[in-house]
Amino acid sequence: MKVLHVSAELYPLVKVGGLGDVMGALPQALKALGVDVRVLMPGFPGVLKGIRQEGEAGVIQGIPGVGEARLLKGRTPADIPIYVLDIPAFYDRPGGPYEESGDSHFKFAALAWAAAQLGLHGDNARWKPWIVHSHDWQSGLTPAYLAFGGAPRPATVVNIHNLAYQGIYAGGLLSDLNLPLESFHIDGVEFDGNINFLKAGLSYADRIITVSPTYAMEIQRPQWGWYLEGLLAKRSKDLVGILNGADYEVWSPAHSPHLESHYDPVRLSGKKICKNLLQRELELEENPEAPIFTVISRLAPQKGLDLVLDNVEYLVSLGAQLALLGTGEPALEQGFLKMARAHPNRVAVRVGFDEGLAHRFLAGGDALLMPSRQEPCGLTQIYALRFGTLPLVRRTGGLADTVVDANPASIANNTATGFMFEPESSWVLGETIGRACDLYQQNPRAWAEIQRRGMKQDFSWKASAGHYLDLYKALCA
Ligand code: ADP
Ligand code: GLC
Repeated sequence: MKVLHVSAELYPLVKVGGLGDVMGALPQALKALGVDVRVLMPGFPGVLKGIRQEGEAGVIQGIPGVGEARLLKGRTPADIPIYVLDIPAFYDRPGGPYEESGDSHFKFAALAWAAAQLGLHGDNARWKPWIVHSHDWQSGLTPAYLAFGGAPRPATVVNIHNLAYQGIYAGGLLSDLNLPLESFHIDGVEFDGNINFLKAGLSYADRIITVSPTYAMEIQRPQWGWYLEGLLAKRSKDLVGILNGADYEVWSPAHSPHLESHYDPVRLSGKKICKNLLQRELELEENPEAPIFTVISRLAPQKGLDLVLDNVEYLVSLGAQLALLGTGEPALEQGFLKMARAHPNRVAVRVGFDEGLAHRFLAGGDALLMPSRQEPCGLTQIYALRFGTLPLVRRTGGLADTVVDANPASIANNTATGFMFEPESSWVLGETIGRACDLYQQNPRAWAEIQRRGMKQDFSWKASAGHYLDLYKALCA
């Protein structure tokens, strides 16, 4: 079974969010199941620096906006074979991988084009995928290029990690992007007169996967369908939600290299040390009795952090502390920074992206706030479970599929793993924060039970990768 994954992120080479984590782990999990899996990525500096290069895999011809470019080959740090599309004019630029530059359509069309060419013709060593599996809008055009690229073609799979990002560009670019006129209609790449990269993938892929069962249902309804609910509902027999996994080699309080003290469900005392060290690092009051609520997140509207901002004063009034690590919307950054200035020993805000600090937040925190309006899967709450940090989440997408609310019934029948609320309301979030503080302060024994149960949950990739493999087998049969 030969499968080519196409992605713009892969931890530790390039990571903006959870897509990086998924691509850092899923190929390894598939390889362990016997799949001959390879990855194709744009030649971002982090990719070229981070791989073990092994020369050239060929030259890709006819790339929209570019002509031809070299395809390099190598190995990721996890020893997965990787192809790298070497177009320095596109990928060797300052700023993040998705920095808008006026030619993003070419930047990512090139990636999809290279994927399609590899799918049709293979590399210079005659390796040719049976399945081309693209991730998110950045590689969304791949199935469209393959649908019009002639036969025989490999099967195609598209993963939706987040339907909110679609890659929409002017309809007039159709021929510049090497898309045929026949693709420009409502069941093709066309979207309100424009070209929609993700829609192209959803229209032409043989199968569509998204990252949790609940999200797979939510996106077939208007509220979270982003105007693609009709298409997704029509394709529902080809659409499946497979829950993401966690890479516990990376995300473990027992051996994370970013921690000075380690712990596991049997020896939880190390977590107390992590908490004290985090309070010291963030210059919070070094009080073991004050529950620390943490946030580790992109500051995007999807994440519902405005609801947290509304509750900072209340949280502080309960004797709790807040530690936030994030970057994104300036208004949210400023709002949280203002709160940190108002409550210097109780609220700490770190604006930026810091992988090591994310581990120390998970280890030192007592609870993780994730009140997302919408969350396709969410990985941070899964990591929080493993770190004995109780996730406090909104009931949506993958959050609903991974956390069990601590209420009298779930505490009594030993199933609680965190806290959950549903209405998109600051008031209800406040109430849930109050509930968490109460349990922390009034019933430490129940809290510790829930911590241990959370730490023992198994969201490793093995099971999820098995579902991917089943889908591949069905496709090839
Ligand atoms: P999303 O992909 O929507 O951002 P996920 O929960 O799936 O959400 O994944 C987020 C990933 O990004 C996690 O690995 C989390 O630790 C990481 N992350 C988010 N913001 C930051 C940050 N400011 N610093 C370090 N890591 C971050
Ligand atoms: C997206 C989603 C997140 C998901 C991640 C990995 O960024 O926002 O919920 O966990 O992709 O699939």
